[in-house]
Amino acid sequence: MKLGFIGTGALSSAIVTGLKSLPGEATAVVLSPRNEEIAAGLAARFPDVRVAAGNQEVLDDCDTVMLAVRPQIARDVLPGLRFRPDHHVVSLIATFSCDEIAAMIGPVKRVTKALPMPMIAIRQGPTIIFPPDPEIAAFFGRLGKAIEVASESEFDALSVATATYASYFKYLETIHGWLKDHGVEEAKGRDYVASLFGALGQAPEATPDASFAHLAADYATRGGINEQVLCELTEHGTFERFKESLGGIHRRITAAS
Ligand SMILES: NC(=O)c1ccc[n+]([C@@H]2O[C@H](COP(=O)([O-])OP(=O)(O)OC[C@H]3O[C@@H](n4cnc5c(N)ncnc54)[C@H](OP(=O)(O)O)[C@@H]3O)[C@@H](O)[C@H]2O)c1
Repeated sequence: MKLGFIGTGALSSAIVTGLKSLPGEATAVVLSPRNEEIAAGLAARFPDVRVAAGNQEVLDDCDTVMLAVRPQIARDVLPGLRFRPDHHVVSLIATFSCDEIAAMIGPVKRVTKALPMPMIAIRQGPTIIFPPDPEIAAFFGRLGKAIEVASESEFDALSVATATYASYFKYLETIHGWLKDHGVEEAKGRDYVASLFGALGQAPEATPDASFAHLAADYATRGGINEQVLCELTEHGTFERFKESLGGIHRRITAAS
């Protein structure tokens, strides 16, 4: 694979960093020159990574091209580039369907959508892939977990989950803030919360047969403190409101694509 990126921002940087942290990894990578500082930084760090003079040079020099620009830039830039029918284009632009991408890039036969997360930089976290593609699944599988889906509607539904990161950290911040208000030293509280939720985060993968409902029940000892918080949040409608927010994000994503 000779891999190119159109758009060298946060996500491209994370993918290249994750890829190049693999032992013995020698895939040649060609970056488009914007963002100049990020592209130059990656090329300086990794011997097989170089910065092209422009977007067209990335296409001319590569067989697999990841599209990692923002949606509006994609609309402005992609139609002016000359793609080849044999390019494999992997769009990371969450809001565009495969058909919309295909309409912008002309004769390309193979278009795949992929949705990685920033933790790919440390080779963790899932990447959703549509349509299933063994080569792209193998690529992202080395950088975390590849999850292939058979329909774009499944892809859209899964991508709703990526809207919950900030709320997750707000949840942790609420616990941390409460601990501080009750006399726990700030750094100690942070350490405790980070370690606690790091360990809890392992539970679903450590017990793959347990549903999340089962785990919730397991951790809510009858009459215990976990059960009390769970019941109170449930009675206050917290989870129903959360589901409504997910529904709103889904409507937004499906309206955009
Ligand atoms: N970040 C994530 O975690 C994440 C996750 C999933 C999907 N995505 C999707 O991935 C895409 C990129 O996201 P991002 O977070 O990496 O955005 P970003 O950090 O803003 O990167 C986009 C890059 O595109 C460059 N660019 C602007 N105009 C260009 C042009 N004409 N030709 C080539 N490159 C150009 C920008 O350079 P300048 O800085 O010089 O303007 C910028 O470095 C978006 O469509 C986003 O929806 C991102």
